[in-house]
Amino acid sequence: MRSFVGLTVLLGTLLCFASSASIDQEAVDAAWAEATKCYQERVLNSTIHGASSRARRSTKITPESEVMSENSNIYGIYEEIVMKKHKLTKRQAAGTQTPAACQIPGFNCNGANIARYRTPDGTCNNLNNPLWGTRNRAFNRVAQAAYEDGFNAPRGNFQSYLPNPRIISTTVHFDNNPVNPQVTNMLPQFGQFLDHDITLTPEANSQCCSNPNSNVDCWSIPISTNDAFYARRSVPQRCMDFTRSTTCSQGGVRQQTNANTAYLDLSQVYGSDLQRTRTLRSMNRGLLVTNPSLTGFLPTGAQVGLQVQGTFVAGDDRINEMPGLAVMHNIFLMEHNRIAREFATLVPSASDETLFQETRRVMIALWQNFIYNEYLPIVLGPRTMTEYNLNLPSSGYSSYSSTTDATIFNSFATAAYRFGHSMVAGIVRLITASNGQAGSYAIADHYFQSGQITQSNGQGYDMILRSLLTQNAPAMDRHVTTGVTNFLFRQPNQDFGSDLIARNIQRGRDHGLPSYNVYRQLCGLTSLSTSWNTRPAEVTSDGWTATSQVYGNNGNNPQQIDLFTGGLIELPVQGGLTGPTFNCLKAVQFQRLKDGDRYFFTHNTGSYALTATQLSQIRNQRLSDMICRNSQQPDAPLNAFLIPSSNNPSVSCSNRTPLNLRVFT
Ligand code: HEM
Repeated sequence: MRSFVGLTVLLGTLLCFASSASIDQEAVDAAWAEATKCYQERVLNSTIHGASSRARRSTKITPESEVMSENSNIYGIYEEIVMKKHKLTKRQAAGTQTPAACQIPGFNCNGANIARYRTPDGTCNNLNNPLWGTRNRAFNRVAQAAYEDGFNAPRGNFQSYLPNPRIISTTVHFDNNPVNPQVTNMLPQFGQFLDHDITLTPEANSQCCSNPNSNVDCWSIPISTNDAFYARRSVPQRCMDFTRSTTCSQGGVRQQTNANTAYLDLSQVYGSDLQRTRTLRSMNRGLLVTNPSLTGFLPTGAQVGLQVQGTFVAGDDRINEMPGLAVMHNIFLMEHNRIAREFATLVPSASDETLFQETRRVMIALWQNFIYNEYLPIVLGPRTMTEYNLNLPSSGYSSYSSTTDATIFNSFATAAYRFGHSMVAGIVRLITASNGQAGSYAIADHYFQSGQITQSNGQGYDMILRSLLTQNAPAMDRHVTTGVTNFLFRQPNQDFGSDLIARNIQRGRDHGLPSYNVYRQLCGLTSLSTSWNTRPAEVTSDGWTATSQVYGNNGNNPQQIDLFTGGLIELPVQGGLTGPTFNCLKAVQFQRLKDGDRYFFTHNTGSYALTATQLSQIRNQRLSDMICRNSQQPDAPLNAFLIPSSNNPSVSCSNRTPLNLRVFT
């Protein structure tokens, strides 16, 4: 009888777990709860005095102190200021925070050095800094925050002297629909799915326009009476709901948190905490729960007892945001269950737990392989891949760096990695197996709706998938579809929605992101002058003109351009999709997600590393192989991110590289 190669290690580890050395996830969860309680007590018991003098002191923080430190003081003054400003009780003010988000007492990582599997919440991935990259941790910063008052007020201030974000959106990022001749819609779709593995910035999402006092963090976006879209609705709109991101304070400075683990660990599939993982597992033969009415498909919220917006559930709650995203989730769910079943056949004696964890381990290796070998080279271009050491070894191993912190940077989540918003298609064509068109739908009409996927007993899934594999993605440029700039999350009874681009810009200011000019320089580019007459070489001339119109007319100079807009008006680097600033911010992050992940699939990390034979199985796999295995596609382009061509043929799904799971047993 065969057994998993790692089983002996695992059994050893289990024995170890059973005695003393362990990462007991339940104990970790209890520690989080304890830390939260402790935080709340300390906030509630704190005295209210000295807020203004301490606030002044906090404006003198150095760039170094701004970078997250394990030891910094989270029991700062932010709550006191919120209380004073909004005349709240201590309890109400405490409720505006994310307790325990910045600092949790250290965990006991004993045993983690030989643990074969990652923890669901990322704890103890880094043994010296067990909280690096974990969920509910404050974002790191590459540059000192630029709050107007040094600690809390958004860049540009509440009554902003910077241009109105909606006006920037309509002037600079208006819809104009050229397509990228080489790239398929799979690229942005995979990009969004990837984002939901690594970032989720919580916000209260209050109805701030109708009730500005409903949340201390209300900061709605005013809409001009001249707005060509909102002013002409059946009920003209003058205000866009916006709530500032949930915060924690660090050394008295407002910070935002990431509710997902930073690591590329498929937490959008498995969840970022043990409880969610358990909810999604069938606890039988390593399988994830599936839908009883649609064989093999994602389960519904009702089925697993979770309240979600939309039909399906997974590890990340945004799964139903748009149909293409749920399609991605479905592929990964199906592959998990396919692998788990095969493992169960190969090793009939293996427990549910072993089957689940071994399958998850292979899934994460495949996932990381697709990202670094297929996706990033197209997004960043070959030069950036080399410069930032992002190319994986084609044989042998890479090395883990225990001094690299994988925690996500604020500027990455809040601006650079939102580049994909430019590539969202407003209209999705439904493509049949014979490449005919069987209708189309507007994303504006399908937020949080699954009807297009489930239609004809799940055939919609295959037609959306074929659309992702064969249709050109919109060009990566400053232009964005009105599907997200006028109709974001439109309610069925309304003729408008929100504006994603206005939100991105407002969000950057909310998070105190410094201007585009600061990041340019951090990325090695020259500083912008204060004159609109000098266009930097990296920026397109039409983008510069549009940007100067909106910022210049508002009395702002180029040094005040917001990071999101600045990133989108840059010319793409050779062979990549975005310009040098966004490329640099993304490359640094993906380097950290590789080097700083102890479990990264190509790292030579001893007893729990993949063997050379296992590695070569993973390396031979392409995203399109996985898609073929889990759909009714007749064929798929070899590289799913590129339109089929002589260099990238469409290969029959019956003639695909199999994943030999025997080598993992
Ligand atoms: C139809 C497609 C998409 C929709 C409807 C969508 C919607 C949204 C929304 C509503 C937000 C929060 C905005 C705010 O700050 O208030 C957001 C954040 C974000 N989006 Fe998208 N998005 C889409 C596609 C993409 C793509 C293709 C990418 C990248 C390739 C991407 C990357 C991000 C990132 C990094 C964030 C920040 C997430 C966080 O930390 O919470 N999105 N998106």
